[in-house]
Amino acid sequence: MKYNTVVFIISFLFPSFLYANEPIDASFITKFEYGAMLYRNPRGIGCNKCHGKGDKTVTIAMYKDKKGITQSLKAPPISKLSYVSFMAKLKAKKNRSLVMPTYFLTDDEIKSIYHYVTNLNKK
Ligand code: HEC
Repeated sequence: MKYNTVVFIISFLFPSFLYANEPIDASFITKFEYGAMLYRNPRGIGCNKCHGKGDKTVTIAMYKDKKGITQSLKAPPISKLSYVSFMAKLKAKKNRSLVMPTYFLTDDEIKSIYHYVTNLNKK
């Protein structure tokens, strides 16, 4: 599948992808709540839109390839990754992934999201 096709499908599925978000004041909320907010609203499309609760593989879309064979676009589980792999993925250079957007999050923000997603499924 071509890169443009993927961007088209994603913009169609998630129009909010195109809007920027307001900065937030994190002083009166817990680390977990802050992580939860960022997970849904990371100045770009929410992680939850593709990764759900982060504990399972999520099928984002099904499509037919050039040969008419049905293929699917999947997001992997992210709740059991090491902090190092998680950080590496979120700091990866633009266009390393054809599907997952590039985010511009600080190390602290990534740490909060990591804290949230690794604890969410323990509740
Ligand atoms: C548009 C869908 C989409 C969104 C939104 C998205 N991801 Fe992903 N993510 C993917 C896909 C697909 C992969 C699989 C490999 C790839 O394409 O990079 C992935 C891979 C990952 C990985 C690496 C998993 C592994 O096993 O190494 C991490 C970590 C991750 N995403 C975290 C996040 C976080 C945190 C957010 C929000 C800030 C997010 N993703 C938003 C689709 C998405």
